[in-house]
Amino acid sequence: MAERTFVMAKPDGVGRRLVGELIQRFEAKGLKLVALKLQIMTAELAKTHYEEHADKPFFGELVDFITSGPTVQMVWEGNGAVDTVRKMNGATNCLNADVGTIRGDLGLSMQNNIVHASDSVDTAKREIALYFNETEVWDYTMPDEHWLV
Ligand code: CMP
Repeated sequence: MAERTFVMAKPDGVGRRLVGELIQRFEAKGLKLVALKLQIMTAELAKTHYEEHADKPFFGELVDFITSGPTVQMVWEGNGAVDTVRKMNGATNCLNADVGTIRGDLGLSMQNNIVHASDSVDTAKREIALYFNETEVWDYTMPDEHWLV
């Protein structure tokens, strides 16, 4: 079933010039890009985004890292998009991520893991609403959609 997921290229993903690689992988899989923007996040937004980790020992470092440079926010749509993107990203710690995943192929760290993606449909709704208003998320038909259902 078609669903939407929130994906973010983190400062290391942007700084290592991997945004095109991320987009290429999600496009080639058959997902549809329906929203896109770039920003340096405020600490306030970072704390809201990662509020479930507020009591973790790494929370301060996480907020410092995610606000340290530009990030790219995206919404991708497609059948089972949430799980598909999680699988394509790989394990949170790049050292444990399978070869063939974004983190397994491109990263070496836990914190600098290139990309964030929603872990459920409900989380995706919350995260999309944090970064995009309704007019910034587009409904349109791709010419190849009949091959992807
Ligand atoms: P992400 O998928 O964006 O969700 C929370 C982030 O916290 C995670 O990716 C990691 O970048 C980071 N993270 C999780 N666990 C640790 C940890 N033990 N030490 C440092 N960073 C962590």
